[in-house]
Amino acid sequence: MKLTLRIWRQENASQPGRMQPYEVDGIRGDMSFLEMLDVLNEQLILAGEDPVAFDHDCREGICGACSLMIDGEAHGPQKKTTTCQLHMRSFRDGATIDVEPWRAAAFPVVKDLVVDRSAMDRVIQAGGYITAPTGAAPEAHAAPI
Ligand code: FES
Repeated sequence: MKLTLRIWRQENASQPGRMQPYEVDGIRGDMSFLEMLDVLNEQLILAGEDPVAFDHDCREGICGACSLMIDGEAHGPQKKTTTCQLHMRSFRDGATIDVEPWRAAAFPVVKDLVVDRSAMDRVIQAGGYITAPTGAAPEAHAAPI
C-alpha cells in the first residue's frame, strides 16, 4: 500500500505550522495507524530529517493518548476506534491522508502532532468532567474474597 500523508509540522508553540506532504510505501493493511507513522519516521531518520512527533502510550486502545485528527475526524474514519487501533486496511491504496493535532485553545501544540494536555489533566485531578455522580472506586480491602 502506498500513501501520501499530509502531516502538520510545527517546531514549537511559538512557530507557525504547515501541512507537509510525505510519501510512504510498503504499508500493510494489518499495520495500525501509529505503526504506519513509525514507518514514516524510520524513513525520515534514515534520510537525516526530523521525525514527526506524535503522542502514544498503551497502543492498546485504552489510554487515549494517541489523539490525532485524521482526515478531519477525531481518531479517523472508524467509529469508536482509537488511532492506535485503527488499521491501515481502513484506507485505500494510493489515498492521501491528512494528519493533524487536536485543535483547541485548551490544547496548544507542543510540536507537530503533540499537544499540551495539562488542561485535561487538571480537570481529571479535580474529580472528572461529568456532572453525574459516579462515586469512587470501593476500598479493595473491603471486599471479601
Ligand atoms: S495509545 Fe493508548 S489508546 Fe492509543
